[in-house]
Amino acid sequence: IHVLLVASEALPLAKTGGLGDMLSAYAPALQEGGVDATIILPGYPEAIARADKVEHVCMLEGLPGGDAELLRARMPDTGMPVLLVRADALYDRSSLYQDPNGAEWADNAVRFATLSAAAVRVAQGVPGVRKVDLVHAHDWHAGLTPLLMKLAGVTTPSVFTIHNLAFQGNYPLEMGAQLGIPAELLTADPRSSDSIEFYGQLSFMKAAIRYADRITTVSETYAREILTPRFGHLMEGVLQECAAKVSGIMNGIDINTWDPARDPMIPRHFGIDEMRGKHVCKRELQQVFGLPTDPFVPLLAIGSRLTWQKMGDLALDSIEALMQNYPRLQVVVLGKGEVRLEQAMMRLAQRYPDRVAVYVGYDERRAHLLHAGADILLHGSRFEPCGLTPMYSMRYGTIPVASRVGGLADSIVDQGPNLSVHTAPDVKRTGAPFPRAATGFLFDGETADAMTQAASRAIEAFMRPSSWRNLQRNAMRADFTWDAPVARYAALYAGLCGERPSRSL
Ligand code: ADP
Ligand code: GLC
Repeated sequence: IHVLLVASEALPLAKTGGLGDMLSAYAPALQEGGVDATIILPGYPEAIARADKVEHVCMLEGLPGGDAELLRARMPDTGMPVLLVRADALYDRSSLYQDPNGAEWADNAVRFATLSAAAVRVAQGVPGVRKVDLVHAHDWHAGLTPLLMKLAGVTTPSVFTIHNLAFQGNYPLEMGAQLGIPAELLTADPRSSDSIEFYGQLSFMKAAIRYADRITTVSETYAREILTPRFGHLMEGVLQECAAKVSGIMNGIDINTWDPARDPMIPRHFGIDEMRGKHVCKRELQQVFGLPTDPFVPLLAIGSRLTWQKMGDLALDSIEALMQNYPRLQVVVLGKGEVRLEQAMMRLAQRYPDRVAVYVGYDERRAHLLHAGADILLHGSRFEPCGLTPMYSMRYGTIPVASRVGGLADSIVDQGPNLSVHTAPDVKRTGAPFPRAATGFLFDGETADAMTQAASRAIEAFMRPSSWRNLQRNAMRADFTWDAPVARYAALYAGLCGERPSRSL
Protein backbone atom coordinates (compact mmCIF):
# COMPACT_ATOMS: atom_id res chain seq x y z
CA ILE A 1 0.00 0.00 0.00
CA HIS A 2 1.20 3.50 -0.81
CA VAL A 3 -0.34 6.23 1.35
CA LEU A 4 -0.40 9.95 0.64
CA LEU A 5 -0.20 11.92 3.90
CA VAL A 6 -1.70 15.38 3.44
CA ALA A 7 -0.76 17.98 6.05
CA SER A 8 0.29 21.57 6.62
CA GLU A 9 3.35 20.71 8.76
CA ALA A 10 6.12 18.13 8.98
CA LEU A 11 9.32 18.60 10.93
CA PRO A 12 11.94 19.83 10.01
CA LEU A 13 10.36 21.49 6.96
CA ALA A 14 7.55 23.25 8.82
CA LYS A 15 6.33 23.07 12.41
CA THR A 16 4.26 25.06 14.87
CA GLY A 17 3.31 22.22 17.22
CA GLY A 18 2.84 18.51 17.67
CA LEU A 19 1.26 18.03 14.24
CA GLY A 20 4.65 18.58 12.59
CA ASP A 21 6.32 16.12 14.96
CA MET A 22 3.67 13.51 14.33
CA LEU A 23 3.90 13.59 10.54
CA SER A 24 7.65 13.38 10.33
CA ALA A 25 7.85 10.53 12.85
CA TYR A 26 4.84 8.66 11.50
CA ALA A 27 5.92 8.44 7.86
CA PRO A 28 9.17 6.50 8.45
CA ALA A 29 7.53 4.39 11.16
CA LEU A 30 4.87 3.38 8.63
CA GLN A 31 7.59 2.52 6.17
CA GLU A 32 9.23 0.26 8.73
CA GLY A 33 5.85 -1.34 9.29
CA GLY A 34 5.62 -2.20 5.60
CA VAL A 35 3.44 0.69 4.39
CA ASP A 36 4.97 3.17 1.95
CA ALA A 37 4.15 6.80 2.59
CA THR A 38 4.64 10.11 0.81
CA ILE A 39 3.93 13.40 2.58
CA ILE A 40 2.44 16.33 0.66
CA LEU A 41 2.90 19.81 2.14
CA PRO A 42 2.43 23.41 1.07
CA GLY A 43 5.64 24.59 -0.61
CA TYR A 44 6.58 27.18 2.00
CA PRO A 45 9.88 28.67 0.75
CA GLU A 46 11.70 27.61 3.94
CA ALA A 47 10.38 24.07 3.50
CA ILE A 48 11.67 23.96 -0.08
CA ALA A 49 15.02 25.32 1.12
CA ARG A 50 15.32 22.68 3.86
CA ALA A 51 14.24 19.69 1.76
CA ASP A 52 16.78 17.47 -0.03
CA LYS A 53 16.90 16.61 -3.72
CA VAL A 54 14.15 18.99 -4.82
CA GLU A 55 12.94 18.33 -8.38
CA HIS A 56 10.23 19.75 -10.60
CA VAL A 57 7.43 17.28 -11.34
CA CYS A 58 4.74 19.26 -13.17
CA MET A 59 2.45 22.26 -13.07
CA LEU A 60 -0.95 21.84 -11.43
CA GLU A 61 -3.35 24.23 -13.12
CA GLY A 62 -6.60 25.70 -11.92
CA LEU A 63 -6.35 24.99 -8.18
CA PRO A 64 -8.47 27.22 -5.88
CA GLY A 65 -5.50 29.55 -5.38
CA GLY A 66 -4.41 29.46 -9.04
CA ASP A 67 -1.65 27.43 -10.63
CA ALA A 68 1.02 25.71 -8.57
CA GLU A 69 4.22 23.85 -9.24
CA LEU A 70 4.43 20.31 -7.86
CA LEU A 71 7.91 19.52 -6.51
CA ARG A 72 9.26 16.16 -5.45
CA ALA A 73 11.88 16.00 -2.67
CA ARG A 74 13.21 14.03 0.28
CA MET A 75 12.89 14.75 4.00
CA PRO A 76 16.36 15.74 5.28
CA ASP A 77 16.83 13.27 8.14
CA THR A 78 14.83 10.25 7.08
CA GLY A 79 14.96 10.47 3.29
CA MET A 80 11.20 9.95 3.16
CA PRO A 81 9.57 11.18 -0.05
CA VAL A 82 7.77 14.50 0.18
CA LEU A 83 5.78 16.50 -2.37
CA LEU A 84 5.71 20.28 -2.11
CA VAL A 85 3.01 22.44 -3.66
CA ARG A 86 4.81 25.59 -4.68
CA ALA A 87 2.64 28.70 -5.00
CA ASP A 88 4.56 31.66 -3.63
CA ALA A 89 1.55 33.98 -3.64
CA LEU A 90 -0.04 31.61 -1.12
CA TYR A 91 2.80 30.18 0.90
CA ASP A 92 5.60 32.76 0.97
CA ARG A 93 4.64 34.28 4.32
CA SER A 94 6.42 35.28 7.54
CA SER A 95 4.69 32.44 9.42
CA LEU A 96 2.54 29.45 8.59
CA TYR A 97 -0.91 30.54 9.71
CA GLN A 98 -0.82 34.02 11.16
CA ASP A 99 0.19 37.53 10.23
CA PRO A 100 2.62 39.44 12.47
CA ASN A 101 -0.32 40.68 14.59
CA GLY A 102 -1.40 37.16 15.40
CA ALA A 103 -4.50 37.22 13.15
CA GLU A 104 -5.13 34.39 10.70
CA TRP A 105 -4.00 35.15 7.16
CA ALA A 106 -7.12 36.42 5.39
CA ASP A 107 -6.78 33.87 2.59
CA ASN A 108 -6.17 30.77 4.75
CA ALA A 109 -9.24 29.05 3.29
CA VAL A 110 -7.83 29.38 -0.22
CA ARG A 111 -4.28 28.55 0.87
CA PHE A 112 -5.27 25.23 2.39
CA ALA A 113 -8.01 24.34 -0.09
CA THR A 114 -5.21 24.56 -2.64
CA LEU A 115 -3.20 21.99 -0.70
CA SER A 116 -6.18 19.61 -0.67
CA ALA A 117 -6.91 20.17 -4.35
CA ALA A 118 -3.27 19.41 -5.19
CA ALA A 119 -3.47 16.20 -3.16
CA VAL A 120 -6.54 15.19 -5.15
CA ARG A 121 -4.61 15.68 -8.40
CA VAL A 122 -1.85 13.46 -7.07
CA ALA A 123 -4.42 10.84 -6.07
CA GLN A 124 -5.83 11.01 -9.60
CA GLY A 125 -2.38 10.19 -10.90
CA VAL A 126 0.53 12.40 -11.91
CA PRO A 127 3.34 11.15 -14.15
CA GLY A 128 6.49 10.83 -12.07
CA VAL A 129 4.68 10.19 -8.80
CA ARG A 130 3.93 6.69 -7.61
CA LYS A 131 0.28 5.59 -7.71
CA VAL A 132 -1.55 6.37 -4.47
CA ASP A 133 -3.69 3.63 -2.86
CA LEU A 134 -5.03 5.62 0.07
CA VAL A 135 -5.15 9.28 1.10
CA HIS A 136 -4.69 10.15 4.76
CA ALA A 137 -5.39 13.81 5.55
CA HIS A 138 -4.53 15.55 8.82
CA ASP A 139 -6.35 18.34 10.67
CA TRP A 140 -8.58 21.05 9.20
CA HIS A 141 -5.95 22.39 6.79
CA ALA A 142 -6.27 19.19 4.78
CA GLY A 143 -9.95 18.77 5.66
CA LEU A 144 -11.42 19.37 2.21
CA THR A 145 -9.39 16.53 0.70
CA PRO A 146 -11.94 13.68 1.08
CA LEU A 147 -14.77 15.86 -0.27
CA LEU A 148 -12.76 17.20 -3.22
CA MET A 149 -11.78 13.60 -4.01
CA LYS A 150 -15.41 12.54 -4.16
CA LEU A 151 -16.32 15.59 -6.28
CA ALA A 152 -13.52 14.70 -8.70
CA GLY A 153 -14.70 11.10 -8.87
CA VAL A 154 -11.58 9.72 -7.21
CA THR A 155 -12.51 6.43 -5.54
CA THR A 156 -9.28 6.03 -3.57
CA PRO A 157 -10.22 5.50 0.12
CA SER A 158 -9.56 8.29 2.58
CA VAL A 159 -8.74 8.59 6.28
CA PHE A 160 -8.87 11.83 8.22
CA THR A 161 -7.09 12.35 11.54
CA ILE A 162 -8.26 14.97 14.01
CA HIS A 163 -5.23 16.32 15.84
CA ASN A 164 -7.12 19.22 17.34
CA LEU A 165 -10.86 19.74 17.04
CA ALA A 166 -10.59 23.29 18.39
CA PHE A 167 -9.27 24.47 15.03
CA GLN A 168 -11.93 23.80 12.44
CA GLY A 169 -11.32 26.04 9.46
CA ASN A 170 -14.75 27.71 9.39
CA TYR A 171 -15.26 30.38 6.71
CA PRO A 172 -18.05 32.38 5.08
CA LEU A 173 -20.34 30.23 2.96
CA GLU A 174 -19.79 32.60 0.03
CA MET A 175 -16.24 31.29 -0.28
CA GLY A 176 -17.58 27.93 -1.41
CA ALA A 177 -17.55 28.78 -5.11
CA GLN A 178 -13.87 29.74 -5.06
CA LEU A 179 -12.98 26.57 -3.18
CA GLY A 180 -14.78 24.40 -5.72
CA ILE A 181 -17.69 23.39 -3.48
CA PRO A 182 -21.13 23.18 -5.12
CA ALA A 183 -23.91 25.30 -3.61
CA GLU A 184 -26.06 22.29 -2.72
CA LEU A 185 -23.41 21.20 -0.19
CA LEU A 186 -23.64 24.55 1.58
CA THR A 187 -27.28 24.47 2.54
CA ALA A 188 -28.30 25.03 6.15
CA ASP A 189 -31.16 22.54 5.84
CA PRO A 190 -30.66 20.19 8.81
CA ARG A 191 -32.04 17.28 6.76
CA SER A 192 -29.12 17.49 4.35
CA SER A 193 -26.59 14.92 5.43
CA ASP A 194 -24.31 16.05 2.60
CA SER A 195 -23.96 19.66 3.69
CA ILE A 196 -20.75 21.03 5.14
CA GLU A 197 -22.54 24.10 6.49
CA PHE A 198 -21.78 24.56 10.18
CA TYR A 199 -23.51 27.30 12.20
CA GLY A 200 -23.79 29.56 9.17
CA GLN A 201 -20.30 28.88 7.90
CA LEU A 202 -18.50 26.51 5.61
CA SER A 203 -16.43 24.12 7.70
CA PHE A 204 -13.32 22.27 6.55
CA MET A 205 -13.53 20.10 9.67
CA LYS A 206 -17.15 19.15 9.09
CA ALA A 207 -16.36 18.35 5.46
CA ALA A 208 -13.60 16.01 6.60
CA ILE A 209 -15.78 14.28 9.19
CA ARG A 210 -18.63 13.82 6.72
CA TYR A 211 -16.66 12.66 3.71
CA ALA A 212 -13.64 10.71 4.95
CA ASP A 213 -14.15 6.96 4.96
CA ARG A 214 -12.63 6.71 8.44
CA ILE A 215 -11.91 9.27 11.16
CA THR A 216 -9.20 8.81 13.73
CA THR A 217 -8.05 10.92 16.64
CA VAL A 218 -4.63 10.84 18.23
CA SER A 219 -5.65 9.09 21.46
CA GLU A 220 -8.42 6.75 22.51
CA THR A 221 -9.74 8.94 25.28
CA TYR A 222 -9.98 11.95 22.96
CA ALA A 223 -11.98 9.85 20.49
CA ARG A 224 -14.60 9.33 23.21
CA GLU A 225 -14.38 12.86 24.61
CA ILE A 226 -15.13 14.63 21.34
CA LEU A 227 -18.56 12.99 21.21
CA THR A 228 -19.53 15.10 24.24
CA PRO A 229 -20.35 18.82 24.50
CA ARG A 230 -17.44 19.49 26.89
CA PHE A 231 -14.85 18.50 24.30
CA GLY A 232 -16.80 18.60 21.04
CA HIS A 233 -16.32 22.28 20.18
CA LEU A 234 -19.92 22.18 18.86
CA MET A 235 -18.93 19.42 16.43
CA GLU A 236 -20.15 16.65 18.78
CA GLY A 237 -23.46 16.26 16.93
CA VAL A 238 -21.76 15.75 13.57
CA LEU A 239 -19.34 13.32 15.18
CA GLN A 240 -22.09 11.35 16.90
CA GLU A 241 -23.79 10.83 13.54
CA CYS A 242 -20.53 9.40 12.22
CA ALA A 243 -19.48 7.67 15.45
CA ALA A 244 -19.28 4.26 13.79
CA LYS A 245 -16.30 5.36 11.71
CA VAL A 246 -14.45 7.21 14.51
CA SER A 247 -11.63 5.57 16.46
CA GLY A 248 -8.65 6.64 18.52
CA ILE A 249 -5.04 5.61 17.90
CA MET A 250 -2.49 6.99 20.33
CA ASN A 251 0.50 8.66 18.69
CA GLY A 252 3.96 7.27 19.18
CA ILE A 253 6.97 9.55 19.45
CA ASP A 254 10.24 9.74 17.58
CA ILE A 255 12.38 7.86 20.09
CA ASN A 256 15.56 8.64 18.17
CA THR A 257 15.12 12.40 18.34
CA TRP A 258 13.99 12.31 21.97
CA ASP A 259 16.60 10.02 23.48
CA PRO A 260 18.67 11.01 26.52
CA ALA A 261 21.39 8.57 25.46
CA ARG A 262 21.94 10.15 22.03
CA ASP A 263 20.36 13.61 21.92
CA PRO A 264 22.92 15.95 20.29
CA MET A 265 21.19 19.00 21.77
CA ILE A 266 21.96 18.22 25.43
CA PRO A 267 25.31 18.69 27.19
CA ARG A 268 25.66 15.17 28.66
CA HIS A 269 23.93 11.91 27.80
CA PHE A 270 22.26 9.63 30.32
CA GLY A 271 20.01 6.60 30.67
CA ILE A 272 17.97 4.64 33.20
CA ASP A 273 21.02 3.13 34.90
CA GLU A 274 23.34 6.08 34.52
CA MET A 275 21.61 9.25 35.58
CA ARG A 276 24.62 11.44 36.31
CA GLY A 277 24.27 13.14 32.94
CA LYS A 278 20.87 14.41 33.99
CA HIS A 279 22.49 16.47 36.74
CA VAL A 280 24.75 18.08 34.16
CA CYS A 281 21.70 18.87 32.06
CA LYS A 282 19.94 20.36 35.07
CA ARG A 283 22.90 22.57 35.77
CA GLU A 284 23.03 23.73 32.17
CA LEU A 285 19.29 24.41 32.16
CA GLN A 286 19.64 26.53 35.28
CA GLN A 287 22.55 28.39 33.71
CA VAL A 288 20.87 28.99 30.37
CA PHE A 289 17.82 30.37 32.17
CA GLY A 290 19.94 32.44 34.57
CA LEU A 291 18.92 30.66 37.76
CA PRO A 292 21.27 29.68 40.63
CA THR A 293 22.85 26.32 39.83
CA ASP A 294 21.70 24.20 42.74
CA PRO A 295 21.42 20.44 42.09
CA PHE A 296 19.13 19.81 45.08
CA VAL A 297 16.24 22.21 44.50
CA PRO A 298 13.17 20.86 42.73
CA LEU A 299 13.11 22.31 39.20
CA LEU A 300 9.68 22.48 37.61
CA ALA A 301 9.36 23.33 33.91
CA ILE A 302 6.67 24.35 31.48
CA GLY A 303 7.41 23.90 27.77
CA SER A 304 4.43 24.45 25.51
CA ARG A 305 2.33 26.90 23.61
CA LEU A 306 1.21 29.52 26.14
CA THR A 307 -2.50 29.37 25.52
CA TRP A 308 -5.87 28.88 27.13
CA GLN A 309 -5.86 25.27 25.84
CA LYS A 310 -2.63 24.65 27.76
CA MET A 311 -4.04 26.22 30.98
CA GLY A 312 -1.51 29.04 30.81
CA ASP A 313 -3.85 31.17 32.94
CA LEU A 314 -4.12 28.54 35.70
CA ALA A 315 -0.38 27.86 35.61
CA LEU A 316 0.26 31.51 36.55
CA ASP A 317 -1.83 31.22 39.72
CA SER A 318 -0.49 27.80 40.48
CA ILE A 319 3.17 28.83 40.21
CA GLU A 320 2.46 31.77 42.47
CA ALA A 321 1.00 29.42 45.12
CA LEU A 322 3.87 26.94 44.76
CA MET A 323 6.40 29.76 45.17
CA GLN A 324 4.86 30.53 48.56
CA ASN A 325 4.61 26.91 49.69
CA TYR A 326 8.02 25.69 48.52
CA PRO A 327 10.67 28.35 49.18
CA ARG A 328 13.35 26.39 47.34
CA LEU A 329 11.35 25.60 44.19
CA GLN A 330 12.68 26.84 40.84
CA VAL A 331 10.52 27.24 37.74
CA VAL A 332 11.52 27.61 34.08
CA VAL A 333 9.04 28.44 31.35
CA LEU A 334 9.63 28.05 27.62
CA GLY A 335 6.64 29.14 25.63
CA LYS A 336 5.03 31.28 23.03
CA GLY A 337 1.41 32.04 22.39
CA GLU A 338 -1.13 34.51 23.72
CA VAL A 339 0.60 37.83 24.37
CA ARG A 340 -1.35 38.41 27.61
CA LEU A 341 -0.03 35.11 29.04
CA GLU A 342 3.50 35.73 27.79
CA GLN A 343 3.53 39.10 29.56
CA ALA A 344 2.07 37.72 32.78
CA MET A 345 4.73 35.00 32.82
CA MET A 346 7.44 37.62 32.38
CA ARG A 347 6.01 39.65 35.27
CA LEU A 348 6.15 36.52 37.43
CA ALA A 349 9.83 36.13 36.56
CA GLN A 350 10.45 39.74 37.56
CA ARG A 351 8.80 39.14 40.92
CA TYR A 352 10.92 36.05 41.61
CA PRO A 353 14.14 36.80 39.75
CA ASP A 354 16.17 34.00 41.34
CA ARG A 355 13.46 31.39 41.17
CA VAL A 356 11.34 31.86 38.06
CA ALA A 357 12.86 32.25 34.58
CA VAL A 358 10.86 32.70 31.39
CA TYR A 359 11.91 32.48 27.76
CA VAL A 360 9.24 33.71 25.40
CA GLY A 361 9.92 32.21 22.01
CA TYR A 362 10.03 29.02 20.04
CA ASP A 363 13.34 27.23 20.48
CA GLU A 364 13.93 23.56 19.70
CA ARG A 365 17.30 23.40 21.50
CA ARG A 366 15.91 24.91 24.70
CA ALA A 367 13.01 22.44 24.49
CA HIS A 368 15.41 19.48 24.47
CA LEU A 369 17.45 20.93 27.34
CA LEU A 370 14.27 21.59 29.29
CA HIS A 371 13.06 18.00 28.97
CA ALA A 372 16.51 16.68 29.89
CA GLY A 373 17.32 19.04 32.76
CA ALA A 374 14.05 19.58 34.64
CA ASP A 375 12.76 17.36 37.45
CA ILE A 376 9.05 17.97 36.89
CA LEU A 377 7.13 18.98 33.77
CA LEU A 378 3.92 20.93 34.43
CA HIS A 379 1.56 20.34 31.53
CA GLY A 380 -2.02 21.37 32.21
CA SER A 381 -4.48 21.17 29.33
CA ARG A 382 -8.20 21.93 29.15
CA PHE A 383 -8.26 19.40 26.35
CA GLU A 384 -5.37 17.44 24.85
CA PRO A 385 -5.88 15.27 21.78
CA CYS A 386 -2.57 13.50 22.39
CA GLY A 387 0.08 15.65 24.07
CA LEU A 388 3.54 14.73 22.90
CA THR A 389 5.43 16.97 25.30
CA PRO A 390 4.92 14.89 28.47
CA MET A 391 5.90 11.74 26.55
CA TYR A 392 9.15 13.45 25.57
CA SER A 393 9.78 14.51 29.16
CA MET A 394 9.17 10.98 30.47
CA ARG A 395 11.89 9.66 28.15
CA TYR A 396 14.30 11.94 30.03
CA GLY A 397 13.09 10.96 33.50
CA THR A 398 11.28 14.28 33.93
CA ILE A 399 8.04 13.50 35.72
CA PRO A 400 4.86 15.04 34.31
CA VAL A 401 2.10 16.75 36.26
CA ALA A 402 -0.86 16.91 33.90
CA SER A 403 -4.63 17.08 33.63
CA ARG A 404 -6.55 13.85 33.23
CA VAL A 405 -7.85 14.50 29.72
CA GLY A 406 -7.31 13.05 26.25
CA GLY A 407 -3.94 11.54 25.50
CA LEU A 408 -2.55 12.68 28.84
CA ALA A 409 -4.93 10.28 30.60
CA ASP A 410 -3.75 7.51 28.25
CA SER A 411 0.00 8.11 28.41
CA ILE A 412 0.57 9.02 32.07
CA VAL A 413 -0.14 6.70 34.99
CA ASP A 414 -0.98 8.63 38.14
CA GLN A 415 1.00 7.80 41.24
CA GLY A 416 -2.10 7.76 43.40
CA PRO A 417 -2.14 8.53 47.11
CA ASN A 418 0.74 6.17 48.01
CA LEU A 419 4.03 7.79 48.75
CA SER A 420 6.22 4.85 47.84
CA VAL A 421 6.40 3.87 44.21
CA HIS A 422 6.98 0.38 42.90
CA THR A 423 9.00 -0.19 39.82
CA ALA A 424 7.80 -2.37 37.03
CA PRO A 425 10.27 -5.28 37.53
CA ASP A 426 9.26 -5.89 41.18
CA VAL A 427 5.77 -6.67 40.12
CA LYS A 428 7.00 -8.51 37.06
CA ARG A 429 8.79 -11.05 39.24
CA THR A 430 5.49 -11.93 40.84
CA GLY A 431 4.26 -13.06 37.46
CA ALA A 432 1.52 -10.43 37.30
CA PRO A 433 0.86 -8.91 33.88
CA PHE A 434 2.94 -5.85 33.06
CA PRO A 435 1.75 -3.34 35.62
CA ARG A 436 0.50 0.13 35.04
CA ALA A 437 3.40 1.42 37.10
CA ALA A 438 3.17 5.07 38.15
CA THR A 439 4.85 7.57 35.83
CA GLY A 440 3.44 10.92 36.93
CA PHE A 441 0.72 12.96 38.59
CA LEU A 442 -2.72 13.71 37.17
CA PHE A 443 -5.39 16.15 38.28
CA ASP A 444 -9.06 16.55 37.43
CA GLY A 445 -10.96 19.68 36.51
CA GLU A 446 -9.87 23.13 35.51
CA THR A 447 -8.79 24.91 38.67
CA ALA A 448 -5.45 26.30 39.77
CA ASP A 449 -6.02 24.55 43.10
CA ALA A 450 -6.18 21.10 41.56
CA MET A 451 -3.07 21.87 39.53
CA THR A 452 -1.24 23.14 42.61
CA GLN A 453 -2.17 20.05 44.60
CA ALA A 454 -0.88 17.70 41.93
CA ALA A 455 2.32 19.71 41.54
CA SER A 456 2.71 19.62 45.33
CA ARG A 457 2.40 15.84 45.31
CA ALA A 458 5.18 15.78 42.72
CA ILE A 459 7.42 18.11 44.71
CA GLU A 460 6.89 16.04 47.86
CA ALA A 461 7.74 12.88 45.94
CA PHE A 462 10.89 14.55 44.56
CA MET A 463 12.01 14.97 48.14
CA ARG A 464 11.97 11.16 48.64
CA PRO A 465 14.86 10.13 46.38
CA SER A 466 14.27 6.38 46.23
CA SER A 467 10.60 6.72 45.27
CA TRP A 468 11.56 9.40 42.79
CA ARG A 469 14.08 7.10 41.16
CA ASN A 470 11.36 4.49 40.75
CA LEU A 471 9.04 6.99 39.15
CA GLN A 472 11.83 8.00 36.79
CA ARG A 473 12.58 4.39 35.90
CA ASN A 474 8.94 3.70 35.13
CA ALA A 475 8.63 6.84 33.03
CA MET A 476 11.83 6.13 31.10
CA ARG A 477 10.77 2.55 30.43
CA ALA A 478 7.28 3.33 29.16
CA ASP A 479 6.73 2.23 25.57
CA PHE A 480 6.01 5.25 23.39
CA THR A 481 7.30 3.70 20.18
CA TRP A 482 5.29 3.76 16.98
CA ASP A 483 5.10 -0.07 16.79
CA ALA A 484 1.60 -0.52 18.18
CA PRO A 485 0.07 2.58 16.54
CA VAL A 486 1.51 1.68 13.14
CA ALA A 487 0.07 -1.82 13.38
CA ARG A 488 -3.35 -0.30 14.01
CA TYR A 489 -3.13 2.21 11.18
CA ALA A 490 -1.85 -0.50 8.84
CA ALA A 491 -4.84 -2.68 9.68
CA LEU A 492 -7.18 0.26 9.12
CA TYR A 493 -5.59 0.99 5.73
CA ALA A 494 -5.69 -2.65 4.69
CA GLY A 495 -9.36 -2.89 5.55
CA LEU A 496 -10.15 0.18 3.46
CA CYS A 497 -8.07 -0.88 0.50
CA GLY A 498 -9.79 -4.25 0.46
CA GLU A 499 -13.26 -2.78 0.62
CA ARG A 500 -14.14 0.14 -1.66
CA PRO A 501 -15.49 3.30 0.00
CA SER A 502 -19.26 3.24 0.15
CA ARG A 503 -20.23 6.88 0.05
CA SER A 504 -20.32 8.63 -3.29
CA LEU A 505 -21.96 11.81 -4.56
P1 ADP B 1 0.45 20.88 20.68
O1 ADP B 1 0.64 20.29 19.34
O2 ADP B 1 -0.98 20.98 21.09
O3 ADP B 1 1.14 22.18 20.86
P2 ADP B 1 2.12 18.68 21.70
O4 ADP B 1 2.63 18.49 23.09
O5 ADP B 1 1.57 17.50 21.04
O6 ADP B 1 1.08 19.87 21.77
O7 ADP B 1 3.30 19.17 20.76
C1 ADP B 1 3.98 20.37 21.01
C2 ADP B 1 5.28 20.36 20.28
O8 ADP B 1 5.74 21.70 20.13
C3 ADP B 1 6.38 19.65 21.00
O9 ADP B 1 7.32 19.17 20.06
C4 ADP B 1 7.00 20.77 21.85
O10 ADP B 1 8.31 20.48 22.23
C5 ADP B 1 6.94 21.89 20.88
N1 ADP B 1 6.90 23.22 21.46
C6 ADP B 1 5.84 23.91 21.95
N2 ADP B 1 6.21 25.14 22.36
C7 ADP B 1 7.52 25.24 22.13
C8 ADP B 1 8.50 26.27 22.32
N3 ADP B 1 8.18 27.45 22.85
N4 ADP B 1 9.77 26.03 21.93
C9 ADP B 1 10.11 24.83 21.39
N5 ADP B 1 9.25 23.83 21.20
C10 ADP B 1 7.97 24.02 21.55
C1 GLC C 1 -2.24 18.61 18.15
C2 GLC C 1 -2.71 18.38 19.59
C3 GLC C 1 -1.74 17.59 20.41
C4 GLC C 1 -1.17 16.41 19.65
C5 GLC C 1 -0.61 16.86 18.31
C6 GLC C 1 -0.03 15.70 17.48
O1 GLC C 1 -1.44 19.71 18.02
O2 GLC C 1 -3.03 19.61 20.24
O3 GLC C 1 -2.37 17.12 21.58
O4 GLC C 1 -0.18 15.77 20.40
O5 GLC C 1 -1.61 17.48 17.57
O6 GLC C 1 -1.00 14.76 17.15
